[in-house]
Amino acid sequence: MSYVAAMTEFQPLTTPAVRLSALRLSFGAHLAVDDVSLDILPGDFVAILGPSGCGKTTLLRLLGGFLTPDQGTIEIDGADVTSQGPERRPTNTVFQGYGLFPHMTVRQNVSYGLKIAGRSTPAEIRDQVDQALGLVRMNDFAERNSRALSGGQQQRVALARALVMRPHVLLLDESLAALDLKLRHQMQDELRRIHREIGGTFVFVTHDQNEAFFLANKVAVMNKGRIEQFAAPSDIYHRPSTRFVATFVGEANVIEGRRENGTVMIGDGQFLASSGPDGPVEIMIRPEDIRLGKDVSGAAMTLRATLIDQVFQGSFLKLTFAGESGRHYVATLNDEPRGTARALGEKLDLSWDIGRMRVFDKGAA
Ligand SMILES: Nc1ncnc2c1ncn2[C@@H]1O[C@H](COP(=O)(O)OP(=O)(O)OP(=O)(O)O)[C@@H](O)[C@H]1O
Ligand SMILES: [Mg+2]
Repeated sequence: MSYVAAMTEFQPLTTPAVRLSALRLSFGAHLAVDDVSLDILPGDFVAILGPSGCGKTTLLRLLGGFLTPDQGTIEIDGADVTSQGPERRPTNTVFQGYGLFPHMTVRQNVSYGLKIAGRSTPAEIRDQVDQALGLVRMNDFAERNSRALSGGQQQRVALARALVMRPHVLLLDESLAALDLKLRHQMQDELRRIHREIGGTFVFVTHDQNEAFFLANKVAVMNKGRIEQFAAPSDIYHRPSTRFVATFVGEANVIEGRRENGTVMIGDGQFLASSGPDGPVEIMIRPEDIRLGKDVSGAAMTLRATLIDQVFQGSFLKLTFAGESGRHYVATLNDEPRGTARALGEKLDLSWDIGRMRVFDKGAA
């Protein structure tokens, strides 16, 4: 065994920055967070992604200490903080409403937390505030009243106010949702840069898939209080573990079928080998994974379908087909010669690699 292999073999596992274990919280009869377990590593930028009302904010508030779970534990840097309030946790939260003190200047807003903590001299506070304002590029606005700022500038100050406390874990709740698209993209760039520069652990709540994929190295997809999948963006997209994840993230063709004796029938004359119990299944294939033309490799399947709609979308062409069963298939093509237009009603062969599709047992998840 090589020296390096020996070293890695005996290295202790990294202590997670955040460990949630079997976390549960109900509001009356409503289970808002349902058995959530999650390990977030130091330096991770995690996005919690899910539809409105699925429990994202509740989960973040549990993490920040603003709510106490009915069951389960929260560890930060290896210490159990489940019963500790926000002020005792090494976390800081940036809420969606910026919540700046309106009668104070930018500098007063950002220095407030440090003054309350009472651990730094005025000169240290000044330095740390300047540094935090530098990170969000707001130095020139330090003496400005916080009422005299645009939404994007307020957002930056709110971020500086959390960053100045040097939290081990920074919690952000839909922090960019109120910004217009251009400013939002700009702030997404800034957030990535800040994360690289300070190297802490960020947890960012959003219902926007593009934002989650752009920012995060790991995405937790949440549905009805549960985390359905926690993985890198490419795995979430290409290897969704449930139908919900497959359809919430990106476009997907979902095709109903039946598995019997290791063979799945999806209609339109197709039979596929697939291991698993007998019963109804759903097959997911992304529109960009459907090709025009017959399969010749043997690693793919082909079916015949009629073109019923085509839409030019700039960087790609979106085609809708009807199979012989009447089922619709959506394919997107981005390598078509310019000006290509097909006649509606044309019959074409569609094929896709079997390795690109996912088969979900229906009723299982
Ligand atoms: N204080 C509360 N009392 C009662 N029910 C609550 C409370 N806070 C949240 N809920 C309910 O818990 C569920 C989860 O709410 P939460 O705010 O966590 O959702 P969310 O995923 O952040 O949604 P959004 O994307 O709309 O912000 C919702 O059904 C909500 O109505
Ligand atoms: Mg919310």
